[in-house]
Amino acid sequence: MKKIHGTIKLPGDKSISHRAALFAALYPGKSEFSNFNFNNDCKATLSCLEQLGIQWHYDGRVLRITGKPVTEWQKPSKPLDARNSGTTARLLSGILSGLSFETTLTGDASLSRRPMDRVLKPLTQMGARIESENGFLPMHFSPVKKLKAIRYALPVASAQVKSSVLLAGLNAAGETELIENTSTRDHTERMLRLRQVLNEDGTKSLFSSSAINIPDLSMTIPGDFSSAAFFIVAALLLPGSNLTIQNVSLNPTRTGFLQVLKMMGANFSIEETSSFPEPAGTITVQNSQLQNCAIPRELNANIIDEIPVLAILASQAEGPFILRHVKELRYKESDRISMIVENLRATGIPVEEFDDGFQLTGPVKFKGGRIETKGDHRIAMSFAIANLLTEEEIILDDPDCTAVSFPSFWDILNEIS
Ligand code: S3P
Repeated sequence: MKKIHGTIKLPGDKSISHRAALFAALYPGKSEFSNFNFNNDCKATLSCLEQLGIQWHYDGRVLRITGKPVTEWQKPSKPLDARNSGTTARLLSGILSGLSFETTLTGDASLSRRPMDRVLKPLTQMGARIESENGFLPMHFSPVKKLKAIRYALPVASAQVKSSVLLAGLNAAGETELIENTSTRDHTERMLRLRQVLNEDGTKSLFSSSAINIPDLSMTIPGDFSSAAFFIVAALLLPGSNLTIQNVSLNPTRTGFLQVLKMMGANFSIEETSSFPEPAGTITVQNSQLQNCAIPRELNANIIDEIPVLAILASQAEGPFILRHVKELRYKESDRISMIVENLRATGIPVEEFDDGFQLTGPVKFKGGRIETKGDHRIAMSFAIANLLTEEEIILDDPDCTAVSFPSFWDILNEIS
């Protein structure tokens, strides 16, 4: 069996890269980003911005963006295409809602099946004029003079919806208050330095308004923690492994997966090397004996993107693994509950499916099999890690879909395995 060994740095965090591009487009001046993630999703954000009149240039190392106020953005000559990217569609919707010209937003077949009513509802309350068929893409935005602020309690734990409303708030009369009762990734409020208040009932309020000055966000983008999770799992499971990942995001709203690993008895260490504007540092991980555990419900939103690879890990750990209250997984790039369950079964791992999660008992050896990814990058990368654990072969139907978030996944995997 292979082992994992080496020291790596990863392409910039996808969520931070999207926001860096969008916020730099709103900043009246030039911004520079190193380690920006040129994956397919972030390229979709850049190409939409370009159509809206934002200039950017990449010299192979540094991405330079020249931003301007939305009043100087241009009407695109064709629909904006968010491709496979939910973050592009939902965050951009917040900005498109307040423009003084019309736009149309489309996406690929997978994105066109994902719910947009979750942004349509609050944005319409703010006065946005949006047409869509039953709450799905394409969405057509008609011009508005000014949006109006709202007070909105998030009905789903979604950083994309939160960010969409807060971005619309930048172009609204009055102060928009967004109330969150489950913590979700906080890059938007952190990067835009939005005012935050902890309420007496334990919820958190975030505020945005047209008085916010967008800061110069020029930075080196920390490596993507969700990408790191695949290699962390490989190193934990393969005997003799030892892996160091440098300059990776350690934002606490993203690293719930490390808390789960600690509960499972994983052997790893963390060293924070920078904290502003986003915490980052080094993670070192070794092969470990792992015990399954119950996942505390409050961690679900924090580990949502790591659940496919957590399922691979759990199948190799000792004892029952039960994950509930994660129905949100059904609305990702694929129905991830079905894809995890079907593909685990196809590779020899018995698993029980629930409407809102799944359960299995480990450890069970992986067998060879064929994986249907439905073009879902995280399903593909999770089963690529499973493939390292079997002498037989696990074959992916679409290995190239990893480029949605992580174009260099296969190169780095080859380098360390
Ligand atoms: C993201 C938020 C999460 C996450 C997605 C990226 C973001 O989606 O799953 O990969 O950058 O805000 P939801 O907001 O739908 O939970």
